[in-house]
Amino acid sequence: MDLLQYQSDFLKYLAAQNFTREPRNLYEPVDYILQLGGKRLRPVLTLIAADLFSGSYENALPAALAVEVFHNFTLVHDDIMDDAPLRRGKETVHEKWDINTGILSGDAMLILAYQYFENYEPVVFQKLAKLFSKTALEVCDGQQLDVDFETRNDVEISEYIEMIRLKTSVLVGAALKMGAIVANADEEAAAHIYNFGVDLGIAFQLQDDYLDTFGDPESFGKQVGGDIIENKKTYLYLKALEVASPADSEALLALYNTDEVAKETKVTEVKAIFERNNIPALTQQLIEDYTNKSFEHLTKLDLPAKATDGLRAFGVQLMSRKV
Ligand code: IPE
Ligand code: IPE
Ligand code: MG
Ligand code: MG
Ligand code: MG
Repeated sequence: MDLLQYQSDFLKYLAAQNFTREPRNLYEPVDYILQLGGKRLRPVLTLIAADLFSGSYENALPAALAVEVFHNFTLVHDDIMDDAPLRRGKETVHEKWDINTGILSGDAMLILAYQYFENYEPVVFQKLAKLFSKTALEVCDGQQLDVDFETRNDVEISEYIEMIRLKTSVLVGAALKMGAIVANADEEAAAHIYNFGVDLGIAFQLQDDYLDTFGDPESFGKQVGGDIIENKKTYLYLKALEVASPADSEALLALYNTDEVAKETKVTEVKAIFERNNIPALTQQLIEDYTNKSFEHLTKLDLPAKATDGLRAFGVQLMSRKV
């Protein structure tokens, strides 16, 4: 399993698409965000799954692109919702253009994503569209919970895990399952690969939350501390409230419930509370736990361990990512 091969084949397929057309103000942002780069994690997973179940992956390319276009659509709207200035080291769409442009170009991307399923015959088309619709609605549910949590002070860790399962993990699971569908894998196998993706996706979002606070601003590509500025109820925050001394917990609550403190001061102080309460290590531990949990689903697949080694390696690699 050659990850770089999947990625380069996907990038070739992406480059062959022409997103810029009239009206330019609608489609230029589409091209901009899709050419900005990114890890291309989800489309690669679609190709890997197709290859795993059928021994080829060329015909999974349209599904892989659908997933990546949808993912990029969610980023454009997410950056508006999170008031984020930076994406992949460059200006976000709504900063470079404006919020209305971000909204409508995002809408167009959602439709463009669906259109790629038209490359498949009716039975496969229906399976893909059904999974996609279900997943896209769940992502909306997760995004709404994420926003609702910003102004709640009683969020439980279990609610947080459910929120990230919805906003992030189900798409990782769906990316893999789409590969399985295109490859005509049986339903049980498709379910196992989906569940692998969901647990891996939880580890992935935990790592995203970790990097949002502890990433290197030089290489991270997003505004470090953005989650703290937006009062996001991440695992880091919720775990700190659970394990910190009463004084630190009180200070953390106060920092998350005032507009009086300058952004930089808030980020520095919250970070210091996380650090002196061992939150980085506790978060890394949970990331490892969910990654290992994801691997258990792979053992249920009727495939030799050697065939799924690539997926394990992928999961292990994700744990040490810096972007
Ligand atoms: C960012 O996803 C949004 C999350 C679900 C954490 P990625 O970290 O996969 O973003 P890119 O596509 O590589 O930029
Ligand atoms: C990502 O959550 C969820 C979706 C984009 C649907 P974040 O808000 O943490 O993603 P980043 O950190 O901005 O990429
Ligand atoms: Mg965001
Ligand atoms: Mg967000
Ligand atoms: Mg994030």
